[in-house]
Amino acid sequence: PEEKIALKSRIRALLKEKQAVLVAHYYVDADLQDLAEETGGCVSDSLEMARFGRDHEAKTLIVAGVRFMGETAKILSPEKTILMPDLDATCSLDLGCDANEFAAFCDAHPDRTVVVYANTSAAVKARADWMVTSSIGLDIVRHLHAQGKKILWAPDKHLGSYIQKETGADMLLWQGSCLVHDEFKGVELDVMKAEYPNAKVLVHPESPASVVAQADVVGSTSQLIHAAQTMDAQEFIVATDNGILHKMQMAAPGKRFIVAPTAGNSATCKSCAHCPWMAMNGLRNLLHVLETGSNEITVDTAIAYKAKTCIDRMLDFAA
Ligand code: 13P
Ligand code: SF4
Repeated sequence: PEEKIALKSRIRALLKEKQAVLVAHYYVDADLQDLAEETGGCVSDSLEMARFGRDHEAKTLIVAGVRFMGETAKILSPEKTILMPDLDATCSLDLGCDANEFAAFCDAHPDRTVVVYANTSAAVKARADWMVTSSIGLDIVRHLHAQGKKILWAPDKHLGSYIQKETGADMLLWQGSCLVHDEFKGVELDVMKAEYPNAKVLVHPESPASVVAQADVVGSTSQLIHAAQTMDAQEFIVATDNGILHKMQMAAPGKRFIVAPTAGNSATCKSCAHCPWMAMNGLRNLLHVLETGSNEITVDTAIAYKAKTCIDRMLDFAA
């Protein structure tokens, strides 16, 4: 704990000295989330992270999350320096959607509007008409469907089929998945619900359909925290990365949060519902990048220019 206190106070001082701001996702270490909040940065879902980074006047942003979040920040603010605690922090959705294969998929379906999830590389975004995050995907696809558009969706198959079901849109789906959310199990969740009959079920839409079907609320990380805070219930079963529990507990003190089951029985599994790449962000590597200015995110200028169009479309729609 003493080392932790020292690391945190050094980080606070360096953020101030370098006029840098910390932008963190809800899945990263609780210490990083707290630091972001108390130093004037933000802790939020991926849509808010993008907006906050774009609008903040700081010349340097430290993005504590995964690579696509740093890339999005850079694309929206090419003049800013974007640093990340670990440049190898990626995402199984991004890894499972190779830009060349994706381009061939798009080429084969030129009649479709291309909508990609934020959890993709800049090169994939460069090929898209729209980027969406989990908080706004449903609204954007509903809007496109109302205009009679047929959609090509990538990469998350669960989020894609959830949106398809909700909107009735014609969607051709890439078959990617998130290695964390894909592990939540519908049958075991059903058993757990019987054990906690008063609990409400909060589900991130990257989870399988059998889990989403049992949700009281389906939403982005921010939307799930909001639900935990405002719903009239004392117990919640949560199907998303357990990093979110820190903020949920702060937002709704006194309420009880239980991680949804991820394996073959109804026992809660507190250690497995956690993204290995989000977990690469820590106090030590955060301090290191602040001290050295290392781990800068760069995005090829031509790719960034193209990718910006689909991100701006989403942000304009959200405004
Ligand atoms: P949110 O946009 O809901 O924060 O989701 C990002 C993510 O990576 C979820 O796994
Ligand atoms: Fe990607 Fe899943 Fe990790 Fe989110 S939790 S960053 S979707 S691997």
